[in-house]
Amino acid sequence: MEQPKLLRYSKILKPGREFSGKTFLVTGANTGIGYAAAKLFASKGAEVIMVCRIRVKALLAAEQIRSEYEYERRKDSDAMPTEDLKLTPMDLDLSSLDSALTFINKFKQNYTKLDVMILNAGIAGVKKIITGDGMETHFQVNYLTHFLMCLHMIPLLEESKGVVLSVSSEAHRVLAKFKLGNFQGEKTYGRFLAYGNSKLFQMMASFSFERRLSHRNIHFVTMHPGHVTDTAIGNHITDMSILYLLRQCLYAVDGIESSVAAKDIYEILRQKDEYKSEVYYNRRELGEASQDSRDVVKQEQLWSYSIKLLENYLPVNMPPELLPEMNTKY
Ligand SMILES: NC(=O)c1ccc[n+]([C@@H]2O[C@H](COP(=O)([O-])OP(=O)(O)OC[C@H]3O[C@@H](n4cnc5c(N)ncnc54)[C@H](OP(=O)(O)O)[C@@H]3O)[C@@H](O)[C@H]2O)c1
Repeated sequence: MEQPKLLRYSKILKPGREFSGKTFLVTGANTGIGYAAAKLFASKGAEVIMVCRIRVKALLAAEQIRSEYEYERRKDSDAMPTEDLKLTPMDLDLSSLDSALTFINKFKQNYTKLDVMILNAGIAGVKKIITGDGMETHFQVNYLTHFLMCLHMIPLLEESKGVVLSVSSEAHRVLAKFKLGNFQGEKTYGRFLAYGNSKLFQMMASFSFERRLSHRNIHFVTMHPGHVTDTAIGNHITDMSILYLLRQCLYAVDGIESSVAAKDIYEILRQKDEYKSEVYYNRRELGEASQDSRDVVKQEQLWSYSIKLLENYLPVNMPPELLPEMNTKY
């Protein structure tokens, strides 16, 4: 059997099945942080819905996790639980709203509750591409379709007092610029600006949901996973730009593996009873999100703009708390 690529969880986690009976959904679960998180939560007993852009990748990733798990179990038969992993591969292309609705409907036919939704899938630093829905790709993939998923999953999350964890980035602070009329780079486009903005919007939406829905016992938290080296996100960035060099330095100084980032997600979820509002973790430490992300007026502008873009895809009978405030300009 092939040697696993990832750190063995039995070395970094106490054994236990504390998520037995829980349903986790992870976007972008075929590689990087999403893959490591799917593996970790399945090893803790959860059923993990591995949501991937391409179905075959989801199936292969589930198989790979099973074979790595089997290998680990043989090495640490005392430490690792023995039940079969519950991995359910599903496909969803976040650059298509039709694909998102198809996924959401299929999911709702099979599940009545959702305990944890990890919004992880993402792209970074690609040139300007407009999706089939007419949107800038970072904006739609990293932010808008995840936002749509939240709107539709509220009843299932409420059923289980669920948590939505958005894998954002410190880029929301250092690369973003909130500017009306330029949410999708209509006036000024930069591929790193587009990435930073999509991460900022993810955080703003998370804080808005939390503000609107805290009385419903659903929590929304955000995190920066650290500088995670064994992922595919920056593989296409090979030019010698300042940002490329900066990233290489950060990776060299304090890079971590995706299995460590997954462990941080695990620690964050274990702190559920202590969440306050506007929760932002820098790795597993509570941090302060940028001023823009916490600005309620700006949050409302983004919210109104997003709801308008999604008007043909919204859930029927949207809860009144989710409707935009009247007369918000965007
Ligand atoms: N790595 C870091 O240092 C770092 C730092 C800060 C934040 N983050 C954040 O961490 C998250 C995970 O990144 P990663 O580093 O693990 O990157 P990764 O290895 O490239 O994983 C990204 C995942 O997103 C999926 N994805 C991309 N486009 C998609 C689409 N249209 N529809 C559905 N899924 C799509 C990819 O699927 P395919 O394989 O099919 O393309 C892949 O599964 C991202 O949100 C990123 O912004 C990472």
